[in-house]
Amino acid sequence: MGRLNGKIILISGGARGQGAAEARRCVAEGARVVIGDLLDDAGNALAAELNGAAVYVHQDVTKEADWDAALQAAEAMGGLHGLINNAGIYQPKRLMDTDAELFERHMRVNQLGCFLGMKAVVPLMEKSGGGSIVNISSTAGLRGSPGAIAYSATKWALRGMTKAAAVDLAPRKIRVNSVHPGPIDTDMLKVRTAEENEQRLQFVPMKRMGTADEIASLVVYLLSDESGYVTGAEVAIDGGSTL
Ligand SMILES: NC(=O)c1ccc[n+]([C@@H]2O[C@H](COP(=O)([O-])OP(=O)(O)OC[C@H]3O[C@@H](n4cnc5c(N)ncnc54)[C@H](O)[C@@H]3O)[C@@H](O)[C@H]2O)c1
Repeated sequence: MGRLNGKIILISGGARGQGAAEARRCVAEGARVVIGDLLDDAGNALAAELNGAAVYVHQDVTKEADWDAALQAAEAMGGLHGLINNAGIYQPKRLMDTDAELFERHMRVNQLGCFLGMKAVVPLMEKSGGGSIVNISSTAGLRGSPGAIAYSATKWALRGMTKAAAVDLAPRKIRVNSVHPGPIDTDMLKVRTAEENEQRLQFVPMKRMGTADEIASLVVYLLSDESGYVTGAEVAIDGGSTL
């Protein structure tokens, strides 16, 4: 028996990286998934690999109409029990090098996208008997992260939005939690050189990056009924880097 047997899960930004690892793990645990992303080729290839247990929809998380399309795909599968608000961008610049356009771009994708997602899924999740929302924040939402003021603003926002939504949605049997990864080995960190990524490991007591699979393990737990009394929590998964 898989831990997500019979559940239907929507994953934003699910075509690659952590989202793709989560899609594979959700299916391995018995779920069916709707994968949303801007990357149509990667998204379609992943859905084909998951062979009947997944559909891909083109989805820009900043657009309400795209959330509607993703919800329609879930409804066609039979309902919705989980949402992973995973889509995100990381275009790091220091405070004095950040302009309003870069700041707003992060706010739209990372923060507004998460808000629109949480709001959009409620009616179908409630109709499906309740569910679990997992918001992918970052250690940049737990402490001051160097050289990434706009990204940090959005990841701190997700932490607070998670708690506010957890209170609002508890009566509807919907749990909401935030996950705070440290450095994870995905394409996102290619914005830095290999040497810069290596240097950052001096702040990680475990002296290595995490893997997308390790994040997927935590997310599966938060989506599953095993975490039935966990809501509004913020879980760091960072090799100790925020200790
Ligand atoms: N990699 C890390 O070190 C790290 C650390 C902490 C948190 N995170 C967070 O984890 C999440 C997943 O990141 P990842 O590491 O897999 O990186 P990634 O860049 O591989 O994945 C991000 C995905 O989001 C998608 N995306 C971007 N803008 C979108 C939009 N407007 N609409 C829909 N999809 C969009 C991208 O196409 C991509 O598939 C992000 O929220 C990121 O901020 C990553």
